[in-house]
Amino acid sequence: MKRRMVSVIGTTSLLLILSGGLGVAQQLQPIMLPAPQTTGGKPVMEALSLRATSRSFASTELSMQTLSNLLWAAWGINRSDAERHGGGKGLRTAPSASDWQETDVYVVMQQGSYVYDATTNSLKPVVSGDYRGLTGTQLFVKDAPVTLVFVADKSKMKNARSMAEHMMWADAAFVSENVYIFAASEGLATGVRASIDRSALGNALKLSPDQEITLAQCVGFPK
Ligand SMILES: Cc1cc2nc3c(=O)[nH]c(=O)nc-3n(C[C@H](O)[C@H](O)[C@H](O)COP(=O)(O)O)c2cc1C
Repeated sequence: MKRRMVSVIGTTSLLLILSGGLGVAQQLQPIMLPAPQTTGGKPVMEALSLRATSRSFASTELSMQTLSNLLWAAWGINRSDAERHGGGKGLRTAPSASDWQETDVYVVMQQGSYVYDATTNSLKPVVSGDYRGLTGTQLFVKDAPVTLVFVADKSKMKNARSMAEHMMWADAAFVSENVYIFAASEGLATGVRASIDRSALGNALKLSPDQEITLAQCVGFPK
């Protein structure tokens, strides 16, 4: 009996060593998003007529196609920068001061949090687990299937002087407005917020000292 127990423990340890530990089962994989659909939608004046902040969300998931379209509308690459930078970086659907492109869009969902990589149109894993409730101080934030968290990477703001703080907020606001217009066009609910426990969320998202959370924005279906 004792020998059998030892062998069971031994087998379990071996499996854990081979699999790299219990965390592997919960590890997130990168998500390759479908190509964004960059045509269609409501005419811009109609979308502007519908733009509004929502604070009530159904739990219904967004499809991968909608998520891809949303992220492209928010902060995707919409043209080449060949003439400006010699190529490689791409230019975005939102402007940014000095073209720093310092905003990273974190995508916080039930299964885990990712960061949007516009170049590869993919989501890179950040941390597994449901941190939606940490993306704001209001109760509804845990209900939306997706919350986008805008994070300024200040290491990208080269030669920024005293106005850098203002610039990173302005840059995030342009991305947020793109999300508002996309949501209005698609009949989705959205709402931006500044009321966030930045320390708690920054720890959960494993941010570095150079990274600062500006705004967060829920996206989902209206309740
Ligand atoms: C920079 C900024 C921060 C905001 N922060 C919050 C917030 O923390 N919580 C919230 O419920 N709404 C927040 N809002 C949404 C505003 O309250 C909302 O835009 C305003 O009431 C006007 O409503 P509308 O967007 O539907 O026109 C914020 C909006 C902006 C632009």
